[in-house]
Amino acid sequence: MSKKPKRKKSALTAKTADKHNLYERSVQNVEAEIDFVDRVFKKLRGRRADRLREDFCGTGNSCAEWVRRRSTNQAWGLDIDQPTLEWGMKRHVSELSAEQQERIHLLSRDVLDSTAARDMDCILAMNFSYWIFQERAKLAQYFRAVRESLAAGGVFFLDFYGGSEAFLDVEEERPLDGFTYVWEQDKFNPITGRVQCYIHFDFEDGTRMKRAFHYDWRVWTLPELRDLLAECGFGPVTVYWEGDDGKGGGNGVFKPTLKGEACETFVCYIVAERAE
Ligand SMILES: C[S@@+](CC[C@H](N)C(=O)[O-])C[C@H]1O[C@@H](n2cnc3c(N)ncnc32)[C@H](O)[C@@H]1O
Repeated sequence: MSKKPKRKKSALTAKTADKHNLYERSVQNVEAEIDFVDRVFKKLRGRRADRLREDFCGTGNSCAEWVRRRSTNQAWGLDIDQPTLEWGMKRHVSELSAEQQERIHLLSRDVLDSTAARDMDCILAMNFSYWIFQERAKLAQYFRAVRESLAAGGVFFLDFYGGSEAFLDVEEERPLDGFTYVWEQDKFNPITGRVQCYIHFDFEDGTRMKRAFHYDWRVWTLPELRDLLAECGFGPVTVYWEGDDGKGGGNGVFKPTLKGEACETFVCYIVAERAE
């Protein structure tokens, strides 16, 4: 009997690859993110959260993870980019059971719309997406809209990156399975804090998916954000700093502290509570 020749897994190229799929494989770890949110909310409130809103949800990957976790969980995702939401509906929502699909709602909405999805236990602003708000007043408008949308005792989770490299023009590469993720910070302006960030993807055949994603951001600092969140009515506002792996990297365990470290790069979480 002749054996069928094994078909070689087709190599990704800039033409064939799907940018949302590459993005999710490069920068998201929704399991770890939802573990953190679930654990911290339970610790703070002594009960599990049910109602979660993912702002700037993109493909709604975290929402899908949330509804998979428990049958009592409900998720709302807000994003203004309809094609990205549609990609998420096809790739994530349709993969859920019919019962889970009833508990997930991806909405084409601006996060500044404080009438969208209220009475939340948790609201998430991840992958630094709130850095699109470059004026303090605009960011305050967003933070107030989030506070309005939280139930009493609700918790706002934001991630944050910093360190000396956040204020430089850099290009960093990270090889992944079948492609290389490239992060570029360009034209950082120390007067305004404005920076242009790009994600490119390089492939083994030498092709590049150039500027697959572009972010026009202001680089904020933790003291600015802590002050502004407090001004917008949140409190306590706590930074969860990552532990050390003993080899100069992070160990993935984030704990509340007021003692950070002067690193070249770091990622942490900000947990801003709405009083009970
Ligand atoms: C960096 S992606 C974040 C995707 C996902 N949250 C994550 O953690 O990887 C930023 C997303 O924010 C969306 N966005 C930008 N401005 C927005 C706004 N004012 N309201 C809602 N979504 C917005 C974009 O369409 C984009 O999908």
